[in-house]
Amino acid sequence: MKQTVVYPGSFDPVTNGHLDIIKRAAQIFDQVIVAVFKNPQKTPLFSMEERVELLKKATEDMDNVFIDSFTGLTIDYVKSKKAIAIIRGLRAISDFEGEFQMALLNKELSEDVETIFFMTDIRYTYLSSSVVKEVAQFGGNIDHLVPEAVKKALEKKYFPG
Ligand code: PNS
Repeated sequence: MKQTVVYPGSFDPVTNGHLDIIKRAAQIFDQVIVAVFKNPQKTPLFSMEERVELLKKATEDMDNVFIDSFTGLTIDYVKSKKAIAIIRGLRAISDFEGEFQMALLNKELSEDVETIFFMTDIRYTYLSSSVVKEVAQFGGNIDHLVPEAVKKALEKKYFPG
């Protein structure tokens, strides 16, 4: 049976740090579903459609990576896809507490779904969608932080016309 994993997140927008995790997961598992969470309590910079589109572009050369979106509980989505695990990235110790809580909660909700953590590549330890947006907003250089399409999309948001 094919081993499918789900990498859930906000991806507002996708960064090179996310892409590194996606690539590494895709080398280990048969299928990686990158699932963009629609959070009714947050107003993202990029719409759901934009986030999905940017992820599709950034992963177009990865044959076993699929982009989707969901709302509701991650664990319900994961089970609906018959996935064996949730993938998450860990950058620094500060990530650990929240991720630990989320992993334990998801385990409580469904014992047969594991959470598997990928340690960030050292190059992306400081990288997050939030810092990328902050740098882009003030015209800083984000060339090495995000794929080209994301860079263009950020420029369009912050410096239209
Ligand atoms: O990229 P993010 O914002 O760190 O991703 C967080 C996400 C979307 C994975 C998390 O908030 C989540 O799983 N939300 C869906 C609702 C849910 O299942 N909550 C219970 C686990 S915290």
